Order: sequence, then structure tokens, then C-alpha cells
Amino acid sequence: MTLLRVQNVMSNELAKRTFLSRPPEPPQEYLLNDPTNSIFIGVTKLFGVPFTWTYSTLTNPHLAVVGITGAGKSFFVKTFLVRASYIWNTNAIIIDWAGEYKAWVKQSGGKVIALSKGDYINIMDLSGMKPIDRAKQIMNSIDILTDIGQYPEQRRLTAEAMEQAYVNAGFALADVPGPNTESPTLKDVTKLLEEKLQEGTYEYPAELENAIYRIRQFTREGEDYFAKKSTIDIGKLAQSGLVDLDLSSLPDERFRALAAMFILQTLKEKMRQEGWSSTRGIKTLVVLDEAWKVASDERSDAITIVREGRKYQFGLLVASQNPTDINETIFSNVGTTVMLRIRYEKFMNFLQGSLNFSGFIRREISKFGVGQAAFDMSFNSSIQFPEIFLLDRIVGEEPLDVYAINVAEMLAPNEQADQSIKKEYYFERIDLNAKLIESEISADIILRIFKELDKKDRIVDIRDMAQIMINQGIDKNTIVNFFRKIGILDSIISKVFNFIS
Ligand SMILES: Nc1ncnc2c1ncn2[C@@H]1O[C@H](COP(=O)(O)OP(=O)(O)OP(=O)(O)O)[C@@H](O)[C@H]1O
Ligand SMILES: [Mg+2]
Repeated sequence: MTLLRVQNVMSNELAKRTFLSRPPEPPQEYLLNDPTNSIFIGVTKLFGVPFTWTYSTLTNPHLAVVGITGAGKSFFVKTFLVRASYIWNTNAIIIDWAGEYKAWVKQSGGKVIALSKGDYINIMDLSGMKPIDRAKQIMNSIDILTDIGQYPEQRRLTAEAMEQAYVNAGFALADVPGPNTESPTLKDVTKLLEEKLQEGTYEYPAELENAIYRIRQFTREGEDYFAKKSTIDIGKLAQSGLVDLDLSSLPDERFRALAAMFILQTLKEKMRQEGWSSTRGIKTLVVLDEAWKVASDERSDAITIVREGRKYQFGLLVASQNPTDINETIFSNVGTTVMLRIRYEKFMNFLQGSLNFSGFIRREISKFGVGQAAFDMSFNSSIQFPEIFLLDRIVGEEPLDVYAINVAEMLAPNEQADQSIKKEYYFERIDLNAKLIESEISADIILRIFKELDKKDRIVDIRDMAQIMINQGIDKNTIVNFFRKIGILDSIISKVFNFIS
């Protein structure tokens, strides 16, 4: 009793001292969880405690990963997804901006969906939503991606035509659709606007023309990726194991962002429709890597997933080189922030300001090499302890030595749309090496070829592959024979050299 009173008197002084002497790592019981119900990440730097991640002790299951290029963001994401799938059977959907996950996903037995290369999304698809809500969402995306918000009349005309297109296709605007109804497309919307223009009775034809012009960006032949009947059911993808939605071949950022927003909207709806279930761990993880436009906008559904995800066991994993590209709401709501190597003072200041870490941690982060990390966790605990700690390094699965040769550009449009024609050839390094040796290419040249392929992240267009070989002094016949050996069709090989002088 006496002791307690003395402590009370000295509480200020004591608090300071305990703070200084307390180890700068969370207590072991928060780091080392039941291995059958958590994900191993690595060993802590100061006390060597194995750290296993679970969201049950955290305020929510979402993660943000930041670090410069090459710091190991994607490596962490891959490691995390593989183990989550192993421990909890977690489904994952990667919104793959730059196509950097596809080789890995293929290799891991997942599904790669390449939008624009034979797969399409009709953004007017309802997936169980009421047409009126869907139309609002689409307009919301168009608001984010274009300046239509500044032209209220054009916006109104477009929204009106969109609703009309649903009605014409047999939907009731405020009703949940029946099972066998086929959604209209943006082409129907353009058509309605054009008809209105032709009637010639509308007061402001210029507004109509501009509205048509805007929507046409997404309906032109060859750029109508979102205005055709869908070939995929995004809702189902939330339960399909590992899925890579490769957006890299869409023509520009606007198309990619539109696809990403549609996917997030659909997943959010799916999450709400499915409601809560008491399965262990996380049901579905949605990965947004470098999708800054989508991660940064207040109106994006990434925010809704972050706000509501916990109760549905739905997690969002956002990775970015620039932490200021991640919306404040996301950033302040993720239960886990992973900081890898950071170079810019500006970003470091931002992180230190929002996460409030010490100068010691800051200095440590600035010395990081590849794979070293600081974790900031938001624990669900009334006890006070440090929430930031350092990991010696993220211990990942062995990097896979997979190389991909892309031949899509060599195919005619009808072949591109044909699912049965291979667009990409995958090789284990060891096999590719063997084929190069069989082609009587010398060992040091083979090494140089691999170095060039590594520089291109191990995915190359077949023309680049040929060019790399030519640059190493290999003659055309040898290259042709090599391509044949690895199974590339003669019709493709014959085209490759038309592009190379
Ligand atoms: N913890 C780690 N252990 C072993 N190798 C790693 C680790 N982290 C990253 N690497 C390797 O470092 C390289 C770069 O990593 P990664 O591609 O994950 O970087 P990134 O941060 O995603 O870069 P970018 O921003 O350019 O996409 C890869 O070859 C990867 O295999
Ligand atoms: Mg990456």
C-alpha cells in the first residue's frame, strides 16, 4: 500500500522512466501468436522474437506497405498472400496495375485475367445491385476520372441515358435484378444520347455532343473493354483462390483506374451481400499495388472496404512507393503499416508525423537494405506499449526463377481474342538455360542474357528477347532454332524479325 502511494506521488517521473527503460518492441505475447492461426513474417531485430501476424489482436485487418522501388513491397505481398492462403484459405484478388504479379500467380497455380487481351468487363453489370445504385456508382467513377463534374448538364444527360438504358433492357430501376437479365452496355448509353441529338428537339445540342464524346472514349471499337458483355464474374473471383487481374495492357491510366474502381465496387457489394461469417482469419484480401488514383480518392470504394472490412473479414492491402498517395482515411485506418526502405526525407517526415515514431526508429529505417522492415501495428489493447518494431528482414518464400516471353503483340486481333492461343510462355530459369545451351550459346553469353532479362523483371516481349540475343552477337538462325526449341509457333517467329532490323 505504502509503495503504491509513493508511486502515485512520483507518477510523472516514473512514467517517464518506465518509458525510457521499456523495450522498444511490443510484448512477446503480441508478437508470437498461435502458429496455426497466424502468419510468420520474420524475426524481430532487437530481441529476436519470431513475429507472426494475425488481425485478431489488431484494430483491423488492413495493411499498407511503403518503400522505394526494389525495397521488397511486392515480395512481402506475395509472401503474405501465400501464407494467408495456407493458414486461413484466404482468397486474394490482386489489382495488378503494372502486370508485375502475373508470372508469379501463374506459377503459384492461380488465375491470371488479362483485361483487354480477350477478357472484358461490362461496367454496367449489376452483380445483384439495383440499377439505380449501379448507375450512381458508374457516374461516381466517371466523376473521379474525368472533369464531367464541372458540367452538370452533361452529367445529368449521361446519368439519365444510363438509367434509360437499364429500363430499355427490361430492368426496374429500384429493384434488385432477376437472375437471367442481361445488362445493357455503355454503347447503349451512347446510342440513346445520339438518338436524342438526332431528334433535334433538345435545347443544348453542344452539351449533348460533349456528353457523347466523353462516353465514347470507352465505347470505341478496340477500346471498348468496358462496353462489351463481361467474360468474367468479378463477384465469383472473390472466392477463387489467388487471382491476378492484370491491367497492364489497357491503353492508359484512365482505363486502368476505371477497371480498378469497378472491381472494388463489385467486391464491396459482394462483401456486403455475403454478410458476416465466423470463419477463421481473413476471407478475402484485395491487393492494390501502385494504384494511386484509386487508393488516393476519397470517393473510391477502397475507403469503404477499409471502413467496413473488419466485420466481413475482408482485408485491403495497399502498396505504394509514395505514402502520400494513400488516402488519409486508409492510412490512418490500417491496422498494420509496413515500412521498408525509404529514401526521401519528405516521405520519412510524413510517416514519422502520422505514426509518431522515435528518432531511433527513423535512423534505423533510413539504413534499411532490401527486405528489412519496420512494422507499426494498431493493437486492440488498453495496455500501453510500443507499437513500432524492427524486423531483421521479411523471411519470404524462395524467390521463384520464372521467366516469361510475351507473344501477344505478334498475334492478329482474332487470335488475341482466342483463349486457346498462348499469349505468354513461361519458363523456369533452369529450363531456359538448358535450351540456350542446346542452342550452342556460350555460358558467358547466357549469363549476360539472363542479366538483361532480370533487368526487365523477367517478362519480355518476344521482339525484345530477339533483340537481346542479337545484341549478344547471336545470329538469326540460332535465334530461330532457339525459339522453335522453346515451343514458339513458326507463324509467330516469322513475324518477329519483321520488327527488327
Ligand atoms: N525479404 C526479402 N528477401 C529476399 N529477397 C527479397 C526480399 N524482398 C525483396 N527481395 C527481392 O528484391 C527484389 C525487389 O523486390 P520487389 O520486387 O518486392 O520490390 P518492390 O518494392 O515491389 O519494387 P517496385 O516498387 O519497383 O515494384 C526482388 O527480386 C525480390 O525477390
Ligand atoms: Mg512491386
